[in-house]
Amino acid sequence: MIGNALLQYAGLLALSNLPPIQAIPFLYTPTTTFSAAETVTPAVVSQMNVTSHGPFTGPPAMTTGALTASTILASEIPSAPPAPGSFNYTADGKLHGPEPAPFTPNGGLGTNGSAPVYRPQSDYDYQSLALALYQEWIELDLFHFGLKNFSTGQFQSNGVNADDRFLIEYMADQEVGHATLLTNMLGPQAPRQCTYNYPVSNVREFLDFNQKLTRWGESGVYGFLPHLTSRPAAQLLLQSIAVEARQQLIFRQLGGQFPMPVWHVPSIPQSWQWSLLAPYISSCPANQTRLIWQNFPSLNILNQPNPARINASNAFNETTGGFANSLSTANISSSQLCFNATNQTLNCSPAISRNRTIPLSYPGRQVFLHWDTPGKLIGPNNSYVTTTRARVPRWAAWVSQLNVTYSPLLNINLRNQTAFTFQPNVSTWDHDPAINGTMFLALTDARINVTPFNLSQINPHVAALGVYQAG
Ligand SMILES: *[C@@H]1O[C@H](CO)[C@@H](O)[C@H](O)[C@H]1NC(C)=O
Ligand SMILES: *[C@@H]1O[C@H](CO)[C@@H](O)[C@H](O)[C@H]1NC(C)=O
Ligand SMILES: *[C@@H]1O[C@H](CO)[C@@H](O)[C@H](O)[C@H]1NC(C)=O
Ligand SMILES: *[C@@H]1O[C@H](CO)[C@@H](O)[C@H](O)[C@H]1NC(C)=O
Ligand SMILES: *[C@@H]1O[C@H](CO)[C@@H](O)[C@H](O)[C@H]1NC(C)=O
Ligand SMILES: *[C@@H]1O[C@H](CO)[C@@H](O)[C@H](O)[C@H]1NC(C)=O
Ligand SMILES: *[C@@H]1O[C@H](CO)[C@@H](O)[C@H](O)[C@H]1NC(C)=O
Ligand SMILES: *[C@@H]1O[C@H](CO)[C@@H](O)[C@H](O)[C@H]1NC(C)=O
Ligand SMILES: *[C@@H]1O[C@H](CO)[C@@H](O)[C@H](O)[C@H]1NC(C)=O
Ligand SMILES: *[C@@H]1O[C@H](CO)[C@@H](O)[C@H](O)[C@H]1NC(C)=O
Ligand SMILES: *[C@@H]1O[C@H](CO)[C@@H](O)[C@H](O)[C@H]1NC(C)=O
Ligand SMILES: *[C@@H]1O[C@H](CO)[C@@H](O)[C@H](O)[C@H]1NC(C)=O
Repeated sequence: MIGNALLQYAGLLALSNLPPIQAIPFLYTPTTTFSAAETVTPAVVSQMNVTSHGPFTGPPAMTTGALTASTILASEIPSAPPAPGSFNYTADGKLHGPEPAPFTPNGGLGTNGSAPVYRPQSDYDYQSLALALYQEWIELDLFHFGLKNFSTGQFQSNGVNADDRFLIEYMADQEVGHATLLTNMLGPQAPRQCTYNYPVSNVREFLDFNQKLTRWGESGVYGFLPHLTSRPAAQLLLQSIAVEARQQLIFRQLGGQFPMPVWHVPSIPQSWQWSLLAPYISSCPANQTRLIWQNFPSLNILNQPNPARINASNAFNETTGGFANSLSTANISSSQLCFNATNQTLNCSPAISRNRTIPLSYPGRQVFLHWDTPGKLIGPNNSYVTTTRARVPRWAAWVSQLNVTYSPLLNINLRNQTAFTFQPNVSTWDHDPAINGTMFLALTDARINVTPFNLSQINPHVAALGVYQAG
């Protein structure tokens, strides 16, 4: 009976043509059944094959700076103690309220049977979802760009075979779905596809930039997801970002890095995601919806660990620029490239997992930093401006896993904006060093006590921002 219902559900035809059950079922040959044609295929958002890549060269923008409302109520949101009643619930494993229905515990949000509405319900929602859409659009183009820009031979000589390239193509296709989802929720003014510039000139650099860009895509969404007014919208975005998380891991595997050297993935504020993303957007359609988020100045990690090197932390000035601080292969001699290392413990060709015998980074490492001053035109059509409200930077804030850890800046030189610091030695849990993986480094003027749910309280104190490659 149930089987019959399932067959009807699948729209199977020609049931009478099914061969009779064989006496030896495991020798049964799979046969083709015919199902009814799909009746409804939801349309995807319109996309173009962006053909031009490179920096913006057009005329100065008419409008510059972040979107602002006519009223700004305060210069920052003051910190306050926990909301009243936060400790009221007795967490003792017993039931403390009537059950709304069988097998249904009391409480929760959005659980009372009202139909879900998948649309933004505040400026906070709109601006956050629009930011996520900007991210999905760049990923769609970036993955296509790499597949088109590099030859099959170039991919092959980096160990990326045809199956791997199809996986990258499939990841681009996933972005079509994510962009469609967000566009549908946002409505007609949803940001549209732009043109981009990527700091990559070979396959290794492409894989590393992807691995870093998807890190801030994933972490940026984690930062706002639990704060959205619309829980239904959060639900759908969650189901996309779970895929983004897998993309990040896969790009690490293609780059021969340990796929996930952390027990928790960090989250970052929206303005961090926008600061890291905007520099790679060249131009957007003329009437593109603008964003409220801040663009922080760039932090260049001068000795950013270079995953393409056998000894990654031996690198100096081997990034393609600030913000992403993604790797450059330009100065690596072939004997220092880990890709073709004959010693297998040092080899970093694509793999499900790679032990890096020489860790990319380590506690106590001296890290040399250079930061930009604010006031730089950046982002789509050079129409945004880098800003900071911080005074002189004094601290490096390491944002990894569940932790924000400050280390003092030393030898601060305000003439050329340089300093150094030491990578802290901290653990999130016993046996789980906090600082590892692809993570975030900000310079701040104070040690603000923040944790994942209120990390954006740090923003008024951020002087510069970059991605750090800890492992
Ligand atoms: C983009 O290019 C691909 C392959 O070259 C093609 O299949 C696709 O139809 C194009 N898409 C658009 C929107 O032009
Ligand atoms: C928490 O408990 C106190 C004391 O019983 C009560 O006055 C208050 O209304 C409760 N708050 C919430 C949010 O339930
Ligand atoms: C469910 O809760 C929401 C928010 O509190 C409320 O607006 C709505 O009326 C409730 N729905 C039902 C069916 O009670
Ligand atoms: C790869 O991209 C760069 C930067 O946009 C461009 O200059 C170059 O011509 C492209 N190469 C190919 C083979 O598409
Ligand atoms: C690795 O070695 C192979 C075989 O010698 C060569 O074809 C390939 O170009 C090398 N790859 C890199 C990234 O050096
Ligand atoms: C921009 O203008 C075009 C043409 O007037 C319109 O179709 C499109 O919806 C507008 N886009 C936005 C984001 O407002
Ligand atoms: C980071 O993780 C990798 C992979 O587990 C490990 O080899 C490395 O030692 C870790 N780094 C630190 C600082 O714990
Ligand atoms: C880094 O290298 C670039 C050119 O590759 C050079 O212009 C710059 O001065 C170097 N920076 C440092 C700090 O050595
Ligand atoms: C491979 O490299 C590791 C780490 O540097 C070293 O300990 C080991 O002796 C090397 N093995 C060979 C066969 O050279
Ligand atoms: C990988 O690293 C772990 C942790 O250092 C070590 O226990 C294990 O033996 C290593 N495996 C290989 C194959 O090198
Ligand atoms: C900054 O200035 C200091 C002191 O003059 C100098 O030692 C250092 O090399 C400079 N750094 C850069 C990146 O120019
Ligand atoms: C890291 O975060 C965990 C979880 O919030 C916390 O228990 C731990 O104390 C933090 N460690 C440091 C060094 O801040």
